[in-house]
Amino acid sequence: MTQQTPDQYRVFGNPIEHSRSPDIHHIFAEKSQQSIDYQKQLVDIEDFSNAVSGFIHQGGKGANVTVPFKEQALIIADELTERASLAGAVNTLSFREGKIFGDNTDGEGLVQDLIANNVILKQSRILLLGAGGAARGVLLPLLAQTPHSIVVANRTVSKAEILCQHFADKRLSACGFQDLEQQQFDVIINATSASLSGSLPPIPISLISQNVVCYDMVYGKDLTPFLRWAKENGAIKVIDGLGMLVGQAAVSFEVWRGIAPEVRSVIDSLRASLK
Ligand code: ATR
Repeated sequence: MTQQTPDQYRVFGNPIEHSRSPDIHHIFAEKSQQSIDYQKQLVDIEDFSNAVSGFIHQGGKGANVTVPFKEQALIIADELTERASLAGAVNTLSFREGKIFGDNTDGEGLVQDLIANNVILKQSRILLLGAGGAARGVLLPLLAQTPHSIVVANRTVSKAEILCQHFADKRLSACGFQDLEQQQFDVIINATSASLSGSLPPIPISLISQNVVCYDMVYGKDLTPFLRWAKENGAIKVIDGLGMLVGQAAVSFEVWRGIAPEVRSVIDSLRASLK
């Protein structure tokens, strides 16, 4: 009997060497008895579209897209999901019926991770810090989960205002960090890139109480500056973005394979391997 060739997937990025996506997807595939081969591919900045065409030509079924190609992936897609269109970025491509389908699973990955951490979004007032690509990418799935308002706070207030206008949803409002002094939230999500440069967004300490859960989209071996600060000042729970990383991969896997993989053990094993 001949063995079937595994379906081919890729993650395109630059840089790409540290991507955990191949490991994550191979574990998903093994656990759900799917036959896939998933590789990372370093792509020159000018060459994204050619790299995708070449992969489709080889019979590729789908791809993840990471920095700095998520906006280009949106442009080359023939069809987009609403969440990708509003996010202005694509992290998941599917190649079927001679077409390129673009999706964005980042927000759903975040929502699933919050729920897995027992955060009841339907009852939560949410503060989203940041108004760049990371914040924009998660707003629609967050809005889908909450009847309450979501406040978007950013260092540059005008960027938060533009972001809220873009979504045109009455539950959204924009402000600067200094405007947060008198406000209270149940969940604070850090979607700024401050953690990547070892800093934390200058938000008032009055936001942190025993009732607040703090989430950072960045993860690492140690707590990010924001999570360390929140914990030291009494936040009930702090959560980093490792679960979101695995969650967005799980949603991509489901988009491609129609099966929602189990994520908890994958998050635990990645956590154990962090250096
Ligand atoms: P990303 O795709 O990661 O969102 P981005 O689009 O460059 O990257 O956006 C970075 C976000 O982090 C912005 O909201 C930025 O604030 P500004 O719009 O005022 O630049 C925010 N940010 C970066 N460093 C920050 C810091 N040290 N303190 C507060 N906000 C910071």
